[in-house]
Amino acid sequence: MIAVKNNTFHISTRRTSYLFGVDEQGNLLHWYYGARIHEDGLAFRDFARTTTWSVYAPDDEEHAAPLQCTPYEYFASGYGTFYPGSCSIRNEAGHNTSRLLYRSAELVKMAEVSTALPRALNPDEVFKVTLEDPINGLQVVLYYEVFSECDIIVRSAVLKNNGTQTLRLDRAMSLTLHLGEDSFDLIRLCGRWAHERSVIRTPVGQGTLSIGSLNGESSHEVNPFFALARPHTTNMLGEVYGFNLIYSGNWKAEVYCDSYGALHIQEGIHPESFLWTLRPGEMLETPQAVCTYAENGLNTMSGNFHRFIRRHISRGYWKDRKRPLLINSWETTYFDFDEASLVRLAKSAKELGVEMLVLDDGWFSTRNSDHSGLGDWTVNTNKLPGGLGCLSERIHQEGMQFGLWFEPEMVNPDSDLYRAHPEWIIAAQEYPAPLCRNQFVLDFSNPAVVDYIFESMCRILDSARIEYVKWDMNRPLTCLGSTYLDADRQGELAHRYVLGVYELLQRLTKRYPKLLIEGCSGGGGRFDLGMLCYCPQIWCSDNTDPFERLVIQNGTSYAYPVAAMGCHVSASPNHYTKRASSLEMRAAVAMPGSFGYELDLGVLSDEEKQQIRAQIGQYHKTYECIHNGTYYRLSEPGQRDFAAWQFVAEDGCSSLITVVFLKPRRNLPAGRLRLCGLEEQAAYRCGEENVLYGDALMNFGLDLGDPAQIGEVRTYYFEKQNTNKNRKED
Ligand code: GLA
Repeated sequence: MIAVKNNTFHISTRRTSYLFGVDEQGNLLHWYYGARIHEDGLAFRDFARTTTWSVYAPDDEEHAAPLQCTPYEYFASGYGTFYPGSCSIRNEAGHNTSRLLYRSAELVKMAEVSTALPRALNPDEVFKVTLEDPINGLQVVLYYEVFSECDIIVRSAVLKNNGTQTLRLDRAMSLTLHLGEDSFDLIRLCGRWAHERSVIRTPVGQGTLSIGSLNGESSHEVNPFFALARPHTTNMLGEVYGFNLIYSGNWKAEVYCDSYGALHIQEGIHPESFLWTLRPGEMLETPQAVCTYAENGLNTMSGNFHRFIRRHISRGYWKDRKRPLLINSWETTYFDFDEASLVRLAKSAKELGVEMLVLDDGWFSTRNSDHSGLGDWTVNTNKLPGGLGCLSERIHQEGMQFGLWFEPEMVNPDSDLYRAHPEWIIAAQEYPAPLCRNQFVLDFSNPAVVDYIFESMCRILDSARIEYVKWDMNRPLTCLGSTYLDADRQGELAHRYVLGVYELLQRLTKRYPKLLIEGCSGGGGRFDLGMLCYCPQIWCSDNTDPFERLVIQNGTSYAYPVAAMGCHVSASPNHYTKRASSLEMRAAVAMPGSFGYELDLGVLSDEEKQQIRAQIGQYHKTYECIHNGTYYRLSEPGQRDFAAWQFVAEDGCSSLITVVFLKPRRNLPAGRLRLCGLEEQAAYRCGEENVLYGDALMNFGLDLGDPAQIGEVRTYYFEKQNTNKNRKED
């Protein structure tokens, strides 16, 4: 709900309040974000602090608001604040000062924006606030979109040049927010290729902590999600604020703790690779920033994000549909396959209950290694003499669906496309362009490039029955330069590149509405809300070792639902880590995800095949609970001698708990595991005998019992008993 009273704006969701308003000088200031408070808002909202070293606006005769620490809702650099502005503008005189003042506020049906950036769908309400600098003509429209049931508020800004001179924007963040003088820890998801999204937590002290990506993608190194938690906050208890960005390119988040201990938070497009020219009449839209607050722990924050993503980010045909259980050819055959071997693979997979074969890299052009062929989307007829049409028919005859790998944004120097259009790559022309994985990035800021790739992909997708595409992206953007953009637009390339990627995704999803697209970027280098608007699932990591995946998926679960995570059972020993693990453990770890297999089924023993049949049976039985239920982390990596997580079905009638032992369970403390999300008075049955009550399971906990080996898995599937078995209230 949005209430407007005396120039104070109060946005409330089910359990949170967000208040901001206009002061006597016409500044738009942030008042409060946190647990839901009374409609009338704040009894006291004076943020001014007396100090002898203060800067005041000339019209602030009473010195009510020292500029340097004023909590502006959105402001431009240069007018007296001691931390970077939400935006920063240089006018034709070369000056970098601008002052945004409040103009109007209104409830609107929807944000008046283009479709260039992906956005969250179906907000309950949209609030529009307009600010303006009357001197240089810059107008900023702020949008607040409310998703009450998820306790999510989504913010974005549209910056427009209503003046007569050209303005150069070198910063345009999506979000500025302020928190009071409490202690907070910054939680973020960090790593590198094959080790994405481990949780890092550090206290915030005076100064700036910043995270971000300059890779041209949201990156393996750090994810655009971050949280600010009180020091005592755990998965089950304590206050936390969570943030994310609906964007897939260079991004930055900054947490500035001022000398009074107050926090000033910003997130948006990374200013380092961004210089945007706003000629009179032109505008720039920022990506949407997503904010949530939870009073009772990190699991609640994650739950808010998970619900929001499932309901408002995921869209189209696959939004609520059960995804096909697939076998992927990459770790199965790499580049070494032909039609006969793929049909054999499909047949053996079908016998075990698998539903789709995904043909990964190597099916096109001269692609027998990663040295050639990218950009030339024509079938490699040495491997597939009958073409994809014939292969796909044979796969379908086996009763399987068919999926195909593309890497649309890239080109190998050894390709017909590069030989024909060397000017189509991203490169600062005066320097030799660096290679990465033997490839260059295509300049997607150029509409001719996007058109060309769209048409090449359509030719392939129209030539065969293809139900699924794995969309890969295997190198960062470096040495930025475009032969398409004018010199004064070169600073726009990194953002325009991302807009080009979204444009291609939009055109493809419109033309093939039933196509399931899985995102991927050398594993999980572009695991973000922008891609999730087009790809309901994203390959989590090229590291498929279940011990490592426990850490990667645990971190990913902070911000993203399991349905978004591509997780496969691969061979043992693992091809990347060389570590052996049981088939049981590999399946237990991959099952809370978009599940599949990625190993040579032909070499498995009968016993292993039988195990896989049983796993697939278990997958179908628990699918509903896993994919539409609420997820709880019951332990963090390294905290206990096991990893454990829980799902509670949407209707509350069942709960699935998985425990994977990471140390031999001998001579260790009692292994009790306190569960979450159950009904206190309800009785739950696990197996034939065991009936336990919700309150006991959540307070005393589940007894993990007998000694266990490393890698041993225990799953507990509790079903709520019908009401007469439930305990009566006293
Ligand atoms: C990337 C992906 C892998 C696989 C290879 C193919 O590394 O993450 O899953 O598709 O490319 O080259």
